[in-house]
Amino acid sequence: MAAKAPTIPLLTPYKMGKFDLSHRIVLAPLTRQRSWGRSRVKILGVRNLKVSWFCKGIQKHLVYGQKSKLKHGNPLWMLFMPKVESSFVRFGMWGGFQIEIFNQMGKLQFLLLRSLTPQLRSDGIDVAQFTPPRRLSTEEIPQVVNDFRLAARNAIEAGFDGVEIHGAHGYLIDQFMKDQVNDRTDQYGGSLENRCRFALEIVEAVVDEIEADKVGIRLSPFADYMESGDSNPEALGIYMTESLNKYEILYCHMVEPRMKTVGEKFECPDSLLPMRNAFKGTFLVAGGYDREEGNNAISENRADLVVYGRLFLANPDFPKRYELNAPLNTYNRHTFYTPAPVVGYIDYPFLEDMTA
Ligand SMILES: Cc1cc2nc3c(=O)[nH]c(=O)nc-3n(C[C@H](O)[C@H](O)[C@H](O)COP(=O)(O)O)c2cc1C
Repeated sequence: MAAKAPTIPLLTPYKMGKFDLSHRIVLAPLTRQRSWGRSRVKILGVRNLKVSWFCKGIQKHLVYGQKSKLKHGNPLWMLFMPKVESSFVRFGMWGGFQIEIFNQMGKLQFLLLRSLTPQLRSDGIDVAQFTPPRRLSTEEIPQVVNDFRLAARNAIEAGFDGVEIHGAHGYLIDQFMKDQVNDRTDQYGGSLENRCRFALEIVEAVVDEIEADKVGIRLSPFADYMESGDSNPEALGIYMTESLNKYEILYCHMVEPRMKTVGEKFECPDSLLPMRNAFKGTFLVAGGYDREEGNNAISENRADLVVYGRLFLANPDFPKRYELNAPLNTYNRHTFYTPAPVVGYIDYPFLEDMTA
């Protein structure tokens, strides 16, 4: 009998709390903008298509659905939920680059800390000027914290296994944490402790509501996307991971320092190791990983799980390809955010389609 090929570290099983994951590869949270005419019905249709496409060749993945605010009993969420090992919904409140869309839809309810200069749009190509945002008053903050709590409750009631709090990439929580954008003078600004207060209040509220074993958080202390940079990202990352231990949440998902922007890799001496060592739960790393680096991160115990964005986006059977060490489809940045429901979304071929 032929000897079985040795399993690569990325494809070894992992037990994350009560979830038995059959491998260590995670699909990154990826905003796509696949709606025509901004019609909700069409959004649903498209999302559903994507889910069935991913399920076609699925091995068990940890995946994300996404929505900033869930309304009670909204059936949307059932459609977003793929038949996979575990599904986490992610919410973070919309950041600056989405404000304009919400403005146009007449649904702006979302508030940055201060004005933004013109920003590169999420396609990485176009530049856009955004409407000046309004600062959240201190009195409004408990209501926003409560919105996160309710969103978590709604996600669980809708059938998700858990929630990931979006504390990365210039979204609201990230803006509070970063000293280059948070210029508040109340108890939510100034010292590191004050800047992290909002994030930790949300973690506490969500944990109280749905229990810690269903809660993860995404953080990007080193990124300065959407003007949200920090003068001491390592101190921020360590403070947050140490503080999170108190709540015993399921996982911390951290973006690599080399991903200063969401889409490009920079040479960088910093590492996530101090945060990995400080955090007591499952540690996920994201940003610029390939097969070899992912395997090394697992075998050297620098991470428990490795998150893949662009490579996974272009390869619906991505873990299988790593298993076989097969060539990968190349992603096309120009179709990341186009509204078409198929092109650049569910037309990347499966391995079997290429070899047939
Ligand atoms: C199309 C696309 C959409 C993304 N959307 C988000 C997002 O909404 N929020 C976020 O925090 N990161 C987002 N990211 C970043 C990814 O989650 C991931 O961190 C990034 O792609 C780096 O990982 P990679 O090198 O494996 O692609 C997005 C990336 C891409 C390519």
